Amino acid sequence: MITGGIGKPVQKVIILDFGSQYTQLIARRVREHKVYAEIVPFHKPWKEIYAEKPSAIILSGGPSSIYEKDAPQLQKEILNLSVPVLGICYGLCALVKHFKGKIESAERREYGRAIIEIKRESPLFRGLKNKETVWMSHGDKVVHPPNGFSIVASSENAEIAAIENIEKNIYGVQFHPEVYHTVNGQRIIKNFLFEICKLIPSWTMKSFIESSVQAIQEEVGDGTVLLGLSGGVDSSVTAMLLQKAIGEKLYCVFVNNGVLRKNEHEKVIERFKRHMKLNLIYVDASKRFLSLLKGVKDPEQKRKIIGREFVNVFMAEAKRIGRFDYLAQGTLYPDVIESVSTRGPSDTIKSHHNRVPEILTLIKSGKVIEPLKELFKDEVRELGLELGMSEELVYRHPFPGPGLAIRIIGEVTPQRVKILQEADDILVEEIKFAGLYRSLWQVFAVYLPVRSVGVMGDKRTYENVIAIRAVTSVDAMTADWAYLPEELLRRISNRIINEVKGINRVVLDISSKPPSTIEWE
Ligand code: XMP
Repeated sequence: MITGGIGKPVQKVIILDFGSQYTQLIARRVREHKVYAEIVPFHKPWKEIYAEKPSAIILSGGPSSIYEKDAPQLQKEILNLSVPVLGICYGLCALVKHFKGKIESAERREYGRAIIEIKRESPLFRGLKNKETVWMSHGDKVVHPPNGFSIVASSENAEIAAIENIEKNIYGVQFHPEVYHTVNGQRIIKNFLFEICKLIPSWTMKSFIESSVQAIQEEVGDGTVLLGLSGGVDSSVTAMLLQKAIGEKLYCVFVNNGVLRKNEHEKVIERFKRHMKLNLIYVDASKRFLSLLKGVKDPEQKRKIIGREFVNVFMAEAKRIGRFDYLAQGTLYPDVIESVSTRGPSDTIKSHHNRVPEILTLIKSGKVIEPLKELFKDEVRELGLELGMSEELVYRHPFPGPGLAIRIIGEVTPQRVKILQEADDILVEEIKFAGLYRSLWQVFAVYLPVRSVGVMGDKRTYENVIAIRAVTSVDAMTADWAYLPEELLRRISNRIINEVKGINRVVLDISSKPPSTIEWE
């Protein structure tokens, strides 16, 4: 396959982001059809967009009203690219404004399900019924299409729910085809990609492996690469991909920070060193981390200490190994999108240590390789399977960098870590045994330093509490607490109280995100 950069196929759809909460969904929907899509901010200079040679452009929705002061504007040059364009919601209004149609602020904001009636045959709606259920979320609405555009669909609230200009290859919809509630949304996107843009579905994990292996080999040459391996899905897949590309020139450093899950370090060593024959360097820094965490109660302090110390340990190890030319990271696409939309509260509420200043400096000097930075989480899992990794490993729940430290409320002590490890191990074992692990985004235990009275045998106990957190989610931006079967909860609670010394009470966390977050700290 011909490629256009690290793992990028030549055919690509560019999505101009006008700030919609659904922009990432558009990219995912396009990629589900095996066409590569990339999100860029609406203000990215058009010359740079030209240089990317997109095969099609999609204009996302957005929260603004098109005539508002400072409303994001479409650069007119984008429309001179002579590639098909699809405007969604705000994107439609941007097109209509540009071509001098008429838009009005609707008296009533239309939000939720709506029925559209398709008025005439259009390649965008090929294969759809006359009436279709769609998802609307807009304030502005088009009241007069621009010259040369025809009305293709209407809804009760929006006379003009879809327009097209076949000659110019420009299409616009008021509703959101990328949202699941638009029942045939995927068909609409498929029609745009294949009926209108005539693209070839070639974005597969097999082709991604081929092109990224080649790109990594070219970039690294005779050099060596250092990767921080946590044992999680992202860094493991990164390791496998790099190993395939450069073999022995990859060095993986696995740091035990003292707040890993039960037996985790042994499992990681077994899996990667013995089975996968990775060049794995194990650093047991648990004592160092735990002594730095002594007496620290504040969540942000804990995160900063662990983040900083990780970089220290990692860099010291790098020096010890000697020369290394590149640093690799398992960064994913959602972390690097220069999105103009709000990214959900957690990015600002908690400091993630993905891009600490030291790493940012390296990134600027081009010394960092991030082979997964084009991929969404589900694509990373697919890639892992394609690389021969086990389902058990590929479908592991996310585990935060600061580890159990942010699941122990208050001070982190070795004794509390041990208690939490035991409780967490029982919880995950039971969830797996019940066959529920894959259906949950995350399930874990939280240690609460709150003592309450209990009775065991004939004796009074005065011990701490374990909270159970189980959530479903698609991307961790929002999450719902999961409803676990009563019998299972009963067994988990019994086992934790009976088997974990220091715990005499188990409680269930029934909070969703937002307003809560997934982790407790
Ligand atoms: P919150 O608690 O913000 O978590 O709802 C969202 C997702 O991010 C994970 N998480 C982290 N991952 N380093 C990580 O690598 C971190 O510092 C970190 N903090 C939270 C969390 O487990 C959830 O999946």
